[in-house]
Amino acid sequence: MSAIPFYKWFVGGKTNIALNAVDRHVKTWRRNKLAIIWEGENGEKRTYSYWRLYQEVNKFANVLRSMGVRKGDTVTIYMGRTPEIVIAMLACAKIGAPHSVVYGGFSDQALADRIADAKSKVVVTSDGSWLRGKIVPLKNVVDEAVQRSPVVQSVIVYKRTGQEINMEQGRDYWWHELMALPIASNKCETEVMDAEDPLFILYTSGTTGKPKGILHTHGGYQVYTSTTLEWVFDLKDEDRWWCAADPGWITGHSYIVYAPLILGATSFIYEGAPTYPYPDRWWRLVEEYGITVLYTAPTAIRGLMRFGDAWPARHDLSSLRLLGSVGEPINPEAWKWFYKVIGGERCPIMDTWWQTETGGFVITPLPSVPLKPGSATRPFPGQVVDVVDEHGNSCEAGVEGKLVIKRPWPSMLRTVWGDPDRYIKQYWTDYAQQGWYLAGDSARKDADGYIWVIGRIDDVIKVSGYRLGTAEIESGLVSYRDVAEAAVIAVPDELKGSVIYAYCILNAGSTGSDELEKAIKKHIREEVGPIAVPEKIEFVTTLPKTRSGKIMRRVLKARAQGLPEGDLSTLED
Ligand code: PRX
Repeated sequence: MSAIPFYKWFVGGKTNIALNAVDRHVKTWRRNKLAIIWEGENGEKRTYSYWRLYQEVNKFANVLRSMGVRKGDTVTIYMGRTPEIVIAMLACAKIGAPHSVVYGGFSDQALADRIADAKSKVVVTSDGSWLRGKIVPLKNVVDEAVQRSPVVQSVIVYKRTGQEINMEQGRDYWWHELMALPIASNKCETEVMDAEDPLFILYTSGTTGKPKGILHTHGGYQVYTSTTLEWVFDLKDEDRWWCAADPGWITGHSYIVYAPLILGATSFIYEGAPTYPYPDRWWRLVEEYGITVLYTAPTAIRGLMRFGDAWPARHDLSSLRLLGSVGEPINPEAWKWFYKVIGGERCPIMDTWWQTETGGFVITPLPSVPLKPGSATRPFPGQVVDVVDEHGNSCEAGVEGKLVIKRPWPSMLRTVWGDPDRYIKQYWTDYAQQGWYLAGDSARKDADGYIWVIGRIDDVIKVSGYRLGTAEIESGLVSYRDVAEAAVIAVPDELKGSVIYAYCILNAGSTGSDELEKAIKKHIREEVGPIAVPEKIEFVTTLPKTRSGKIMRRVLKARAQGLPEGDLSTLED
């Protein structure tokens, strides 16, 4: 380990995560074991044994090398949920090229910003992907983004839906054509990486408008993600693991792609919406594929719960032995429904608290730990977590405080890509003296030492488990010509956990109307992405501010919910 907070793990160790996730298995009986089982939303099915995955990864790694990608070059990936995203990520790892996966729900502007920050010469995408019976036009978004990204030289396009798309000569190449060329040999040397070499950048929202590129490395990340998956979900060779997240988020990176493959497990991946064509799609999948462990998010559970018990009741869910939850605190009603109706009161629910920054589970039960619905229970063995006040004193049971991690851990983020000062400022300044990591969440402990996470203390909003920065949405709003000033807040919502309310002051001469609200929402969809569209936009003439000019979001929040506005003594007006 080296100086706070630039910790290093396994210094001098040589490895490659792809070696442990893929290469190593083909030398054992697991070469014939299924690594991935996939079903498309349109009912298409595919399976990959470890042997086949190994060959596909080798082939695509050779394709990337032939496009000039070298160790240390970043590759941006913007794809739907098909096995190819896994193959692309592993191929990057194999040749030592850090990947930057951008979630397919982000707009072209958001994609362009991330391509520019990562400086990727190559982008991997697909023509589209299926969601709720419609095609998400991924390649169109890439076209727009690449126009604004002079660094991009080549775009590789996997054909998923087969609809007409624009292919620019000399820049865009079909995945299947490249994979059929002699250069795409199924043998490929795995690059020898230092344990501390970059594995990937994953952008996440923080307190300022600019997304942060969270950096993870080959060594510590593989050790911690695989250990946590093995201990918390007790994965065995006979299991069928389904992490129902998107590979574009940290949950997918760690627990769809890397950890299960390192453990030699069989993972199931489903492309589309849980309710398509009917609200029992997931339950049919559990039955048909004999899923034994299902790991999902409270928002998905609530979304399926509202269709009632009859849909799951049509299916035999007895293969399930363990369940999991991640992304936000799970409310007791959703917990109980998941436990009773889905898990048949047999399956403990592993409520795992962690973050993009932590790489793997930090607060989590193990299958034998007594559970309390809504609490992620206690720290994973080796983790030292506490709830503290402003001065760093441990809070008494029942008292709300800030969540901190007191010791470094192998899969911790190493820095913010290209911005080490921001890394220090964001995570290591509040408790600099003590050298503790500030998670950005508030929480309380109970008398048994269980931790109850309450929510974010910074300007981060969780909508349907997606992490968004208020600043990102606000700068999207003010970039609309009629909007002079904007503030957004999170308001509790039964289904989504929280939704976004926006307050806009208009420029002189503009007046608020339903049409304007619609136009601004459309603008946000294009600027930031569909996940950032406010539920409601209110046109106002002033915003509550402190005398130093800071918007008092808590006042807006109280007003929106009809609650007392609290102490207004610092209010400017
Ligand atoms: O506020 C916490 C919430 O999600 C945040 C991290 O978001 P992200 O980096 O997108 O990663 C989500 C998937 C790991 C945390 O700061 N959060 C995550 N898991 C839980 C949670 N809140 C309560 N309980 C959880 N189990």
